[in-house]
Amino acid sequence: MKDVYILAIETSCDETSIAIVKNGCEIDAFTVLTQMDTHAEYGGVVPEIASRMHTENITMVLEETLNKSSITINEITAIAVTYAPGLLGSLLVGVEFAKTLSYIYNKPLIAVNHTIGHIYANNINNQLKFPLLALVVSGGHTDLILMKDDYQFEILGSTLDDAIGECYDKVARVLGLKYPGGPNVDKLAKEGKLTYNLPKPVDDKTYNFSFSGLKSSIINLVHNEQQRGNEIRKEDLAFSFQYIAIDELKRKVGLALKNLNIKEMIIAGGVSANSYLRDEIKKISKEYNVNLSIPEFKYCTDNAAMIGAAAYPLYLKKEFANFSLNAKSQMNITEK
Ligand code: KG4
Ligand code: ZN
Repeated sequence: MKDVYILAIETSCDETSIAIVKNGCEIDAFTVLTQMDTHAEYGGVVPEIASRMHTENITMVLEETLNKSSITINEITAIAVTYAPGLLGSLLVGVEFAKTLSYIYNKPLIAVNHTIGHIYANNINNQLKFPLLALVVSGGHTDLILMKDDYQFEILGSTLDDAIGECYDKVARVLGLKYPGGPNVDKLAKEGKLTYNLPKPVDDKTYNFSFSGLKSSIINLVHNEQQRGNEIRKEDLAFSFQYIAIDELKRKVGLALKNLNIKEMIIAGGVSANSYLRDEIKKISKEYNVNLSIPEFKYCTDNAAMIGAAAYPLYLKKEFANFSLNAKSQMNITEK
């Protein structure tokens, strides 16, 4: 078969990213323009600013990616774009840009779910082997998923309340850390010790998660200490939080590996960039004798390379979108 080059576009949050991905696994060219510094001034992503900045920058990001690429835009096989979930205005910039390119260059259009993109980041310079257990940990998700084949997702369990990334961001905020919260908690926790006694989530035997109790206990602890005029040892609290939260992920992963006797595992989503999580999941996969795939650091956070990787199985099945494609702010990975 002729090589398939997918030009992929990702604008679901605050990164404008375009990649050219060969055969779903090789990165021919890749650009990520982050708006992080702009949003940091406001303490979080401002949707209106995000979509405006995508509009201003997307053409330059395309030009830069094409300059890095070994092929021309005419040689592209298909155009892929993230259409859900994410910030509506931001998604729309990518979707309309993708439709325009598809129309002008007469290339098939492929609509990709952002969360599925995070999972397929593990296919870059690698090949997913099924059946596999996927732990998806991001700003919007904390899911344990069984995949028996490409695009077959069985959700074993999910968070019953907050996503783990959301929890990281909240903890960062009460500790007075700057946006983006997760990476800053990660950094600070490296200097900390387990000194705070935080509540462990209930020890049940389901594959579901719960983080809101842990989050609330940290918010209350910080407020109480502040009212008493006591100083918070921020690095110790950051470490103690991570210790409990990631222990919960490990416990549920261990339960699934044991019950399902699976030998392949992947982690995906923004929180998979967390250094403590990466180390702890490596330990548990060794304990259960499982092959573990962790995306390269640059493919853990939002990027278009993962969208190109996730578009490839859809290209092979000829699952193309038409020009009525619209963006959606919410979407489960099992929805079409
Ligand atoms: O996957 P993602 O880009 O968002 C969604 O698609 O939902 O993940 C963003 C989340 C944020 O909550 C961010 O704080 C968290 O991932 N994150 C981290 C780290 N890097 C990003 N959390 C903990 N440690 C990190 N190193
Ligand atoms: Zn993401």
